[in-house]
Amino acid sequence: MKKPAHPTPPPSDETDPAQQPDSLEACRRCDLWRHATQAVPGEGRRRARIMLVGEQPGDGEDLAGKPFVGPAGKLLDRALAEAGIPRDDVFITNAVKHFKWELRGKRRLHKTPGQREVEACMYWLERELQQEAPAVVVALGATALKALLDDAHARLQEHFNKVTRREGRAVLATWHPSYALRAPDAAARERAYLDIVSALEHARQLAAGK
Ligand code: URA
Repeated sequence: MKKPAHPTPPPSDETDPAQQPDSLEACRRCDLWRHATQAVPGEGRRRARIMLVGEQPGDGEDLAGKPFVGPAGKLLDRALAEAGIPRDDVFITNAVKHFKWELRGKRRLHKTPGQREVEACMYWLERELQQEAPAVVVALGATALKALLDDAHARLQEHFNKVTRREGRAVLATWHPSYALRAPDAAARERAYLDIVSALEHARQLAAGK
């Protein structure tokens, strides 16, 4: 585990959205590297039939260097188990590979990445899609959906648990697991959780060719 980055490292003119880095560590395509502990690459089964795409690493993921290991990851693990999908059987990544945050008291609070950051990081998501070649991709939340469809105006409601074909893959969308943790009341949280489970079941059936 690396030490968390200082919130205000010295300015640098290294950032360049046209850069084509060979490694995530060297990526300066947007500014998020400045404040993150490290980049968090996707991980899981190589060439899995199913790929899950979240938004960006959270605080725990930033420190661990692994996707979905914090509270949202625990909920995702539960939903995967309930949908009959072993976590080891899927590839899990994020649309944006660095944690974007702001300091509130002593806590680093998640900030939604901007479209420019999502676009800069498509360079990495596209590589992962090419390398892993999943049959089915599940967008966890609106940021992932916009990245996967390359459409800044894509709306979660329109793609909710519905299949869109993209470059030979089936893309479907559901809530981000954090929504199922933070929705205003218990009934809404339970509904969101069950929606995630049904999207994962749908993905499992699609991946099995059903
Ligand atoms: N939220 C995400 O979108 N991704 C993670 O890896 C963790 C939390």
